[in-house]
Amino acid sequence: MKHYELAAGTTMPALGLGTWKSDKNEVGPVIREAIRIGYRHFDCARAYMNEAEIGASFQAAFADGDVTRDELFVTSKLWNDAHRASDVRPALEKALADFQLDYLDLYLMHWPVALKPGTWFPQSPTDFLSLDEVPLVETWRAMEACQKAGLVKAIGVSNFTATKIDALADEAEVPISVNQVEAHPYLGQRELLERCAARGVHVTAYSPLGSPDRPDMLKKDDEPNLLAHPVIADIASNNSLSNAQVLLAWAVQRGTSVIPKSVNAERMQQNLDAAAVTLDDASMQAITDLEGPYRFIDGSFWAPEGSPYTLDSIWD
Ligand code: A2P
Repeated sequence: MKHYELAAGTTMPALGLGTWKSDKNEVGPVIREAIRIGYRHFDCARAYMNEAEIGASFQAAFADGDVTRDELFVTSKLWNDAHRASDVRPALEKALADFQLDYLDLYLMHWPVALKPGTWFPQSPTDFLSLDEVPLVETWRAMEACQKAGLVKAIGVSNFTATKIDALADEAEVPISVNQVEAHPYLGQRELLERCAARGVHVTAYSPLGSPDRPDMLKKDDEPNLLAHPVIADIASNNSLSNAQVLLAWAVQRGTSVIPKSVNAERMQQNLDAAAVTLDDASMQAITDLEGPYRFIDGSFWAPEGSPYTLDSIWD
């Protein structure tokens, strides 16, 4: 498996298992199977509501001798309701307690959006805190302290634009190791990739398959079907790959890490194998040329009437 070196000096396996939408009642055996077949990188978050169940499977895998802690790369994310400086370390400690781990490999600020403490998802505009009230750099300083204290090996952000990366990188004392963003052939994020590279920030691609299983409230009626695109299907059949494998191989070959979610053993294996596939230049270019742009996760849930956030302010 290809690895990427992070600004913090640690390395991240290029392909990891996504756990968003993996129900806590089914994720336990999925994690055991993933470890058994060779997954070492797990992308998790407080907001996915399954960290304790994932942690229990890590512990069982350690106890059975399937893997050791230092062979795993575990990411979690700070939820939006814990952006105030005094809330960051307790949130990370809660994640560590849920996983039963004494450090994480990577801790990300999940969104550049702040919510009042205890707000899971905003029900009204009063549930938000503006970035004037809680600046991103305040949250970042507290994350830096967590890395310095050894609770996490590397820190980063998610859903940050190039402008926000530049602004935070100018202030950062501990480097931003990772920016995790939606990226796939319909949303190539080329400018963002260039800016992140210039700032030494590695990019992880989320929703690489177009996230077809996300809740209906996050879907639009007319959205494109990335997995079924004829260009992807053609390249797949010419190379004896599945359509998903083509999307994942493209992501790794262009230098991003990628975190496909699956709860199915056969598809998990297929996805893991894709990290070792090399596509020819013409195929890589044909996929890159599909550029939409189309964003499956458009952030509109942060921009209801009266919110301090707008789609422009989030994606500016
Ligand atoms: P399942 O969990 O049943 O395998 P994303 O990573 O973009 O969020 O996409 C996740 C969705 O893609 C899930 O519905 C998942 O279903 C499905 N999926 C994962 N791997 C594959 C694959 N190799 N082929 C087809 N669909 C896949």
